[in-house]
Amino acid sequence: MSQTQLTQIKENALKAFSSAQNSQELYGFKVQYLGKSGSLTESMKLMATLPKEEKPLFGKMVNEIKTELEAAYEQAEASLKNKEIDAKMLSEKLDLSFSTAAKEQGKEHPIHKVTNEIFSIMARLGYSLRTGPLIEKDYYNFEALNIPPNHPARDMQDTFFVDESHVLRTHTSPIQIHSLENEKPPLRIIGTGPVFRCDSDISHLPNFHQIEGMCVDEKVSMSDLKGTISFFVREFFGPGLKTRFRPSFFPFTEPSAEVDCSCPICKGKGCSMCKQTGWIEIGGSGLINPKVFAHANVEYPKWQGFAFGFGVERMAIIKYGVDDIRHFPSNDVRFLKQF
Ligand code: PHE
Repeated sequence: MSQTQLTQIKENALKAFSSAQNSQELYGFKVQYLGKSGSLTESMKLMATLPKEEKPLFGKMVNEIKTELEAAYEQAEASLKNKEIDAKMLSEKLDLSFSTAAKEQGKEHPIHKVTNEIFSIMARLGYSLRTGPLIEKDYYNFEALNIPPNHPARDMQDTFFVDESHVLRTHTSPIQIHSLENEKPPLRIIGTGPVFRCDSDISHLPNFHQIEGMCVDEKVSMSDLKGTISFFVREFFGPGLKTRFRPSFFPFTEPSAEVDCSCPICKGKGCSMCKQTGWIEIGGSGLINPKVFAHANVEYPKWQGFAFGFGVERMAIIKYGVDDIRHFPSNDVRFLKQF
């Protein structure tokens, strides 16, 4: 083994280290040159065969080459590791401009949509919005509306009682009383919100929504009531629809009338929505009973009025042809998407 051969080994090793494509290949070269049976280690073993005077110089040379190669290896390893990290980062980088799958956009619930539509129609007639508490004193839900304790009229609405003197309001009519107590006539108000009745089937929910209208002025008659409601029905369901008033009973109105509109689905010809009658009931109405004015200390007959209360789900069902009222609180997106 000559010094030239040693230098050759060194050159080859350096070339190999710098040509390695990845750390695994580099490690292979390390084993090949610096490992236990690698070229450089083997050359050490050959030292024994050299003449005595050449040994120190040769040994020194082998050691220097070993140190140099180890340093070269470490440098090559570090630069390969860096390249590998760079490549990994490049392949994993976030592309912030990459568009994701489209998100579904939420929209107005049909009940809110219908409520807002009703408001905007009534606003054009000069009505303004009022709200009231969902838990009402028995007095506001019943007594002030001329439904005394133990009166059979209380059976008209299956009531959820909160305690002896409070109920979950069974209708929006208590809003009439709050308004009469707190405001001075003339009044045109529209109230809305959830109401509660112990009732549940294909056309009844225990928690549904009502819209309440009240007009108090001098000289208010049934024809004002009929004109207002007929206008409202045409605006809401579409032109050409007829309105029908059937004599009825509510303790807080006298006279009272149930309001029907001609079925918007079959235009009055008869279909399953209107049970072949051509008419659909939308709510109650009437002239405000003087006893209600007396409870609220409003002077009668100087001030007179009419009121009406419609079911919002009922109106949405008719307008959109929904087959089951229970779809509204189900929050099933397949249902909600259709509006
Ligand atoms: N409050 C009545 C109900 O819920 C409806 C109604 C309101 C009737 C106003 C007449 C006047 O059944």
